[in-house]
Amino acid sequence: MEKIDPSAYRNIVFFTGAGMSAECGVPTYRGKGGIWNQYDYGEYACQKAFERDPEKVLRFHELRRRAVLDCQPHAGHRVVAGMPRSILVTQNIDGMHQRAGSMNVIELHGSLWRLRCDPCGSMREDPGDDYETLRCDCGNWLRPDITWFGDMLDESVMRMATEAIASCDLFISIGTSGSVWPAAGFPSLARDAGAFCIEINPEPSGAICYDLVIRGSASEALPSLFVS
Ligand code: OAD
Repeated sequence: MEKIDPSAYRNIVFFTGAGMSAECGVPTYRGKGGIWNQYDYGEYACQKAFERDPEKVLRFHELRRRAVLDCQPHAGHRVVAGMPRSILVTQNIDGMHQRAGSMNVIELHGSLWRLRCDPCGSMREDPGDDYETLRCDCGNWLRPDITWFGDMLDESVMRMATEAIASCDLFISIGTSGSVWPAAGFPSLARDAGAFCIEINPEPSGAICYDLVIRGSASEALPSLFVS
């Protein structure tokens, strides 16, 4: 396999999706065993569902939190965390990168470990398995600080991600099906910026033509991708 010398690049961007966490035991969203094959997102992952039955939606997210806490980051997460001059943009809400030591993670779709109250604008970290509370101090239901179907992405987070990608010279996409926008447009943005683009995914993602495609798994491909 072609090895990459990271010292030849000034700005490296890792861009990850659910496939990055798959080998930890966290299910992906699509494909075999995918969350959206098992659960109807219209019942659990959109604002309308939350307004209809907030407790049901919060309990679903609690289940997901418990499942994630049973899992551990793998060697691929540690490679990403240890890479100098790199920025990490993730669609993952599971916090697995941070547990492996990544700092300043750009979380495009929010985090399972934060709750917010839209009526009063407050935000709280909640790192346990069960939520500490389902209600804000103001009395309203708290909601997971996650981008659900139909939600807009946080503008400042989106700006940080696009700025990083538009100025990178090495772009490594790992474990994403490229089917959710606007994140699905990131590989093209990197290619248009002139970056060397790599994809790690056991399945074709239908995205742009990458300069290097590794049809392998994140935990095996990442540790052997770079010259040491
Ligand atoms: P998907 O479930 O759509 O795609 C997962 C991708 O990971 C697929 O292309 C798999 O082939 C690949 N994959 C599976 N195992 C892998 C492994 N061991 N190593 C590398 N790749 C592997 O997940 P995303 O693209 O992340 O949104 O989905 C995008 C968004 O859709 C998610 O962020 C989520 C979902 O609705 C929110 O939660 C807001």
